[in-house]
Order: sequence, then C-alpha cells, then structure tokens
Amino acid sequence: MRKAKILATGMYVPDFVVTNDLLAQVMDTSDEWITQRTGIKERRVVYDTYRMLQRLAQAPDKDAFLKELYERGLDGHIDATMTTSDLALAATEMALKQANLTAADLDLIIQTSVVPDYAYPGVACVLADKLGLTSTPTFSMNQGCAGFIFALSLADQYIKTGTYNTVLVVGAELLSSFFEYSNRGRDMSVLFADGAGAAILVPAEEGEPSGLISHHLHTDGTLLTKLYGEVFGTTTFPPVVKKKIDDDRVRPRMDGRAVFVYAVRRFREVILECLEANRLRLEDIDHFFFHQANTRILEAIAESLNIPREKIPVNIDRYGNTSAASVPILLHEACQEGRLRRGDLCLLVAFGTGFNWGATLLRW
Ligand SMILES: CC(C)(COP(=O)(O)OP(=O)(O)OC[C@H]1O[C@@H](n2cnc3c(N)ncnc32)[C@H](O)[C@@H]1OP(=O)(O)O)[C@@H](O)C(=O)NCCC(=O)NCCS
Repeated sequence: MRKAKILATGMYVPDFVVTNDLLAQVMDTSDEWITQRTGIKERRVVYDTYRMLQRLAQAPDKDAFLKELYERGLDGHIDATMTTSDLALAATEMALKQANLTAADLDLIIQTSVVPDYAYPGVACVLADKLGLTSTPTFSMNQGCAGFIFALSLADQYIKTGTYNTVLVVGAELLSSFFEYSNRGRDMSVLFADGAGAAILVPAEEGEPSGLISHHLHTDGTLLTKLYGEVFGTTTFPPVVKKKIDDDRVRPRMDGRAVFVYAVRRFREVILECLEANRLRLEDIDHFFFHQANTRILEAIAESLNIPREKIPVNIDRYGNTSAASVPILLHEACQEGRLRRGDLCLLVAFGTGFNWGATLLRW
C-alpha cells in the first residue's frame, strides 16, 4: 500500500506580541505566576486583540471598558480585520511555496480550528475561496488542540488508498477573539493565543523510508464541560449579545486542574499505545512533538516516561497555547532549524477539548 509523507510545512503567527507584563496591566496576574504555572513568557495575537489590550491597559475603569466592549462593541472592534481563515491562508501559502506548488495542485484540504470565521460554512470553505479554488473538496474539523493529529490521520487514509495525491492539512486558531481579558477570564486568557501551522502531504516514493506510520485517536465526550465554550465567530468582535453576557455564557470554561490531570494521563497512555502497536521502545523515538499546552504538563509527561528533555522541542514560551496550530508550528520550526534529519522517528501527540487526544508516528 502507498504511504503518505510530509512534503512541506508552513506557519504563521501575527506580529503583535503580548507579554505577561501587558496582561498584568489588564488583570490581576503577574509574569511570575504565568511563567511558573505555564512556562509562557509571551504570545502572539491579531491586531484587533492587541489594540484592545493596549486600550484596556490604559482604561481607568477596566470593568466599565469591558462592559462597553461586550455590550456595544468598541470603535474598531465591531469587524475583525483578520479571521481564522486568514491565519490558515498565511500558513498554507508558506507551505505551498516550500513545496513549490500552487493551490491548484491541492486535491484535498483538511482544516481544523476551534473558533471558526462563521457559524457556517466551515473555515475550510472560506480558505478555499481565499485560495481561489472552486471545486477542490474540503473538510472543516474541530477537534480542539488535537485537531492536527486527527486531520493528519484523515489525509493519510486518502493518500494510502490512492484517492488523492496532494493533501493540505492546516490548523489555524484565532483564540484571542474568544477569551475574556479580565480577572474572571484570567485562568484561560493567559494561556491561549493566535497562530496557524500547515503541512502538505504527498505519497512517498517506492522504497522511501519517510512516511506516516500509525495513528492512535481517542475521544471522551463525557468530560466535555471540563474545557468548552458556547460562543464563537471571529468575523465579528466581540461575538456576543447582551443576554448571553447577563447569563454569563460568554466565557470559555475550563477546569484547569482536571485538564492538567487528564492531559498527562492521556498523553502517557497514547504514547505507550503507539509504541506497543509498533513494537518500539521510547529510546527509538528521536523527537516528541507535543502539543504546547503548558510546560508543566510537558515536564510531567517527560518525567513519568523518562524522556530526555532535548527530545521534546518547546516553543510555548514564545507563542502560548495555539491549540490546533501548535504541533504544526513546532514541526515547522524544527524543520527550519535543521533539527530534523531524514529518517528520524517522530511522535506527534496532542490533547484538547472534547476531550480529544491522539498520536501520530512518522518517519521524517
Ligand atoms: C490553568 C492552570 C495554569 C492553573 O494552575 P493551578 O495551579 O491549577 O491553579 P488553580 O486553578 O488551582 O488556581 C490557583 C489560584 O490562582 C488563581 N489564578 C488563576 N489564573 C490566574 C492567573 N492568570 N494569574 C494569577 N492567578 C490566577 C486562581 O484564581 C486561584 O486563586 P485562589 O487560590 O485564590 O482561588 C493549570 O491548572 C493548568 O495548566 N491546567 C491545564 C490547562 C491547559 O493546558 N489547558 C489546555 C489544554 S489543551
């Protein structure tokens, strides 16, 4: 049977840097608290969020500013200048360039995001439009932070069976439009940020060692309320109506401790499942590309399995948690930095809302 391999990668993060110190000006938090609990020093957000945070930092009455923002929308915040599909487009264009392909060469697009442009259609349709495509099939997925792993597995099936040859997988997240930058929302808003990562998959050559080897996917919907959000839509900012504010249904919800515990447990389980299925030992893996949720989660996993830290690339300090974009961004940076050599065995693992979690084993 044919094997799929990653031909090229791409990424995009907005230029606007939000430091922990800026967040400390808009809510009761500190660089020390965020760094110690999460490992995050700064994150990237779209211009709309950045400008809103700057104004919020200067507002004498922050509660009144937020109330006005959510109830009426402030000048310049009614229509977002960048949406999820724009982030996806930027990462896609970089991957296409690297692959020396054009959008017309794509046979299939699989895109995954938590916060879409519109309630419907999905982000992939908007992305296809922006790429100038009028009949290329697309999937819009939402498997939270595990989205890229789920999407990769789908791309692999289509290539293996010979249905399609060139498949784009893109994880894009505009999460900063979604969180409440206030004392009430601080548990989540300091963690998440904006970004996109893409990969283009094609069939491996006959006898070529590179390629995707196995996927291990899981969902447990019974724990949905540990990490979820009711309101979405990045085409308007803020995407809320007064009734929802009054009912306090606007804020994304997270039981941080439960997420922490389940993330560590499920990461560990799925890594062991993948190793056993492929009759491998941990030492055989050259790189562990873990979803960048939190350095303490990564450290707990590394410790429980005794994985050397140098095999676990980390960039959460610079980007925060970019959900479905985090694994492809990490992969792209590793390629650019020359960390990946042909033939290296890589394990990609992610966990997120749903809960969804999964692992992909591949040879680079
Ligand atoms: C969110 C997380 C960092 C919080 O750390 P924690 O040690 O569990 O902290 P707690 O939730 O127990 O809160 C401790 C205190 O810090 C406060 N706190 C929460 N967010 C804060 C912030 N941004 N700044 C300062 N204090 C904060 C809490 O209100 C609480 O105060 P209290 O003791 O007066 O009640 C941690 O639970 C975590 O990383 N969970 C996993 C989250 C995650 O990765 N989600 C995405 C998965 S894809």
